[in-house]
This record gives sequence, structure tokens and C-alpha cells, in this order.
Amino acid sequence: MSLIAWDQSISVNIPSIDTQHQKWIGMINDLYDAMRSGKGKEVVGKILEEMVQYTQTHFAAEERLMRQYGYPEYEQHKLAHDRFVEKVKDLQARNAAGQIALSAEVFTSLKDWLVNHIQTVDRRYAPFLTAKGVR
Ligand code: FEO
Repeated sequence: MSLIAWDQSISVNIPSIDTQHQKWIGMINDLYDAMRSGKGKEVVGKILEEMVQYTQTHFAAEERLMRQYGYPEYEQHKLAHDRFVEKVKDLQARNAAGQIALSAEVFTSLKDWLVNHIQTVDRRYAPFLTAKGVR
């Protein structure tokens, strides 16, 4: 079973952004599957690297849109992104150094952050960006 199942409860109703979120969730699910099926450190490390990179790609795309249209809550949103990137990079470094394992608790924390961020922080920009014509 996937760690995170996509459904309407995590849609922001902007198709281009939902597509990015689906890809991002897919990468976290792949990472979870790799961990659960006991894939080696190299395989897990590679998937983790791709997930960290895509997280930054997605955040940069959202931040561009928010800046482009003058979204008033840009600063708070960017701060939430920056803190999460720090968190996943720290996770990546500690995993590479063998200091922590990617445990069920780590995935629960990733899942909770992501779902909460989409449902609260991302959804706040949805009416604003939709009114600007972003689809
Ligand atoms: Fe979709 Fe603000 O991350």
C-alpha cells in the first residue's frame, strides 16, 4: 500500500500544481516502498536525492508564481518551504552518514508535513492564483 494516496482532499484545484504534487507524492511513495522492501542504501539514497531535488523544483515553481502575481503571504509560505528543505536535507545527510535509518516514524513525519502543508498553506494561495488565471 502507498504511504500517501492521492485524492481530492489534497487537491488545490489548480491542475498544473496538482500534477506537481502528484509527482512529489509518487516519489515519497517510491522511497517508502524502497525502504519497506529492504532496498540497499545506494538505491534508497538515490531515490531520496531525487525526492529532495524535486521538492526544491516544486517549491521554486510555486514561489515563482507567488512572486509573479504578488501573493501577499509569499514570505510566510517561502519560510515554510525553506524549513522543510532544511529538514529533508538534514535527513538525507544523516541517512548517508548512517546516523539514522528511514524508519516508519520518519515517513509518518514526512507524510504529515506534506499533507498538512498542501491542505492548509498551499490551499490558501489557490483562490488568489486561480483569480489571476493560473490553471
Ligand atoms: Fe506545494 Fe507549498 O508546496
